[in-house]
Order: sequence, then C-alpha cells, then structure tokens
Amino acid sequence: MAKTSTSFVCQACGAAFPRWMGRCTSCSAWNTLVEEADRKRLGKLAGPGASKVQAISEIAEDGAARVPTGVNELDRVLGGGAVLGGVVLVGGDPGVGKSTLLMQALAGLADKGCRALYVSGEESAGQTAARARRLAGVARSKDLLVLAENDLDAIERALDESKPRALVVDSVQTMRAQSMESAAGTVSQLREVAARFVERAKRDGIATFLVGHVTKDGAIAGPKVLEHIVDTVLAFEGDRGHSLRTLRAQKNRFGSATEVGVFEMTSEGLREVDSPSKLFLAERPINASGSVIAATSEGSRSLLVEIQALVGSAGGGSPRRTCTGVDSSRLAMILAVLERKAGLAVSTCDVFVNVAGGARIDEPAIDLAIALAVASSHLERPVAADVVAFGEIGLAGEVRGCARVAARLAEAAAMGFRRAITPASAASSSADIEVIGVRTLSEAIDAAM
Ligand SMILES: Nc1ncnc2c1ncn2[C@@H]1O[C@H](COP(=O)(O)OP(=O)(O)OP(=O)(O)O)[C@@H](O)[C@H]1O
Ligand SMILES: [Mg+2]
Repeated sequence: MAKTSTSFVCQACGAAFPRWMGRCTSCSAWNTLVEEADRKRLGKLAGPGASKVQAISEIAEDGAARVPTGVNELDRVLGGGAVLGGVVLVGGDPGVGKSTLLMQALAGLADKGCRALYVSGEESAGQTAARARRLAGVARSKDLLVLAENDLDAIERALDESKPRALVVDSVQTMRAQSMESAAGTVSQLREVAARFVERAKRDGIATFLVGHVTKDGAIAGPKVLEHIVDTVLAFEGDRGHSLRTLRAQKNRFGSATEVGVFEMTSEGLREVDSPSKLFLAERPINASGSVIAATSEGSRSLLVEIQALVGSAGGGSPRRTCTGVDSSRLAMILAVLERKAGLAVSTCDVFVNVAGGARIDEPAIDLAIALAVASSHLERPVAADVVAFGEIGLAGEVRGCARVAARLAEAAAMGFRRAITPASAASSSADIEVIGVRTLSEAIDAAM
C-alpha cells in the first residue's frame, strides 16, 4: 500500500510529522499529534454540516426501534431489547463469557428473522461455529452468519453484501483500518474502527455490539472516547471460581443504567437466573453466627444476598481485614463505628467479610448487614434465620434511610423472611413482613441478637 510520508499532524499548529511523538517539536505542545486520517474523521464528526436550528416542540421523535434478543437478562439491562442503530460496547475480563453472551443474543435475534452477523477477529469461523453449536438452541437459523476477519474494509464490504440488522464485532481491539498505519488496538485504530461502526450502525439501522478488552483494573482498554461515542456501555463481570456472571450498564442512552442482569455459566452457555435471591441463598447456613441476609437493590429489583463475617484474634500481630464482594474502605469505616459507637472491641481482631456466591454489592445500604454479621461473629450469637437487614451506617453510629424500601421488603417477604431490620425512616407497616425500624447501630444489634 502506498504510504504518505507525513501521517501525523499537530492539532495545535498544523505541523506534519512522519511519526508520532508525545510533544510537537514545532510548537512544543504536548499530546497534540493525531494521525492524518484520524484528524479528517474527527473533523467530519464535529465539523459543519447541513444542520439547522429547530424548536424542540417541532421535531419528530426518533423512536428507538427495539428488538428483544430473547436473552431476557440482557434485554432487561439494555432497557427492553437491542436498539436498531444503537451501538453497545461490552467489556469484561478474558474468559468471562463475552463471546458466549453475544452469540446467544445474535442467535435469539436471528431466530426472530433478524439477520445477524458475528464478526470474529479472535477466532476462526470454525471455532465460532463450534461454540455456537455447543450453546443450547443456537445455530439453527439460516439468518445467523459468521465472518472471521479483522480488516475493517473487508468487514464493510461484507456488511454491504449481507445487509444484517444485528452485528457483533469481537473484539474492537483486533480490528484494523488500512487507512491508518498503526497496529490494531492502538488509540488511533480504536477511534477509527469504533467511529466507522457507529457511522454504519446509524446509517443502516444495525443493532451493533462491540466487544472490548479490559485493562487490569477493569476499565475498557483504549481511549475514553470509545465510551463516549457508543450509546451503551455494559460490563460483564464474574469471579473465576464461581459460575455467577453479572451484566451491568455503565452508561445507557436508551434506558436505565441501573439494571443488572444475572447469569450462570454452564456447559451449554449462559443460563438466565430469574430468581437471583434463590441462587444466593441456596447454601446458607442456618443459625450460624456471622451470617446475615441483606436486602439489596439493583435497578428495578431487589436481591437478597448472604453476608458472611468471621472475626478472630489477630494474636498480637497487625490485624488483617479481607473482604470480597464489598468495598474494603466501607468495611474499615463500619469496623471503626462498631468499635467506637457500639462498644465492640474489633480493632485488634482479624476480620474477614464475604458476600456468598460471588456477588458484588456497591450500595451503602449493605452497611447494616455487614455490621450485624461482624457483630454476630464477634459475639458468637447467631442472627435468626428469618431476619433480613438493610440500611446505611453513618459515622455517628446512626442507621440512615435508603431508596426502594418497598421493593426490598417485598422480595424479603416473597423469599419467606418474617422480620426486617430497617432504618427508622423506612419503618412502614407491611402486611407480609414485620418491620423493625432502628435509629442506631446498637439498637440494630439488640434487635437482631
Ligand atoms: N466446552 C466447554 N464446556 C463448558 N464450558 C465452556 C466450554 N468452553 C468454554 N466454556 C466456558 O466459556 C468460557 C469462555 O467464554 P467466552 O469465550 O465467551 O469468553 P470471552 O469473554 O469471550 O473470552 P475472551 O476474552 O478470551 O474472548 C470459559 O471460561 C468457560 O467457562
Ligand atoms: Mg471472546
């Protein structure tokens, strides 16, 4: 391919260079060099066009045309199905099941007669087909197409020919635009590749899913601009040792970003879990100290999870604090409040806290259950098996209110619990469950044990 000698341009002064540098040698500005083709594209996206100013009241709405994928947990997170013309970026650790999830989604769409193309830059067509056959019920439809390719131009030609309504690009980091000199996965390639797929999705009304690799700390690898130009960003998470997988929206232009999808990884692919609470509580010990059930809220539904704590003597050494599934700084705060406000001498103890089943809970309403589990283990007094707890804990030892109280109580009652320890502000009468409102952590400990 013929290459131009000046392929990088400084956005500040316009000077051209044959290779990328961190600093422009002409105007001394930092990080201003972009690839020539990239610059043209950026100009095209943001530049002047045939737009005009209009009154909002006079503009017809762009109704988002949705097609349910048939994978209900995915549809829930998307806000009711895949949007034709919408672009979804799905990130997740290696091996978590991104390809599996999206193959199942495409198969669901193809079954509805929505022509679907799976483009793999990581696996051969044979490998992709083998996965599809292993998944229960997948690979029956003639509308499910596969292409093993990582050249963007070739993929665009294939899109012109096969005209799919749904597309998976697995993964965006392996795709390469020939117009750029840099290797696949570099910042300018990612920008170009994503921009071309977004343009294409909007123009032809294709429901597009881009798989994105993640960095060590879980962020999608590549420039932040990737997350800005797509409509929806989903994070697929799971723990290596557990079959549980959760799908969360980090951003969603077409729906709520608070919904969570729950799956179980099986040899036949991802199985939807319609009652996650049942799964989380399946193996809980009854009347064991250190085990407390928390009613958490995830999007429009409530999940019951078991919080386990083990408190032991540190034997004179520096005490260890280990937690999985909850935030460690939150645990440190709760331990300090337990010590100072509830008189529990835990500062010299080893403390381990775990959310059973591999779930991860981010909301502060989990505080009360963590505190009760630690207190229960420390005092060696079990919390009754029919009790759930929720509420945020403040530094003064107060139990603070939280959102979606009714949903939490309803889920607890549905799962057979008889009593709920809640913030006083949340204490409402419920026919199905006895609600015990508490103001302080000490009151909560008294009520629970
Ligand atoms: N034959 C099999 N039987 C049972 N489970 C399997 C089988 N093959 C793969 N799996 C499961 O599927 C997972 C891989 O799923 P998948 O390839 O969809 O992940 P991924 O997120 O796309 O990974 P990558 O980042 O490598 O592309 C494996 O970790 C394993 O749990
Ligand atoms: Mg994969």
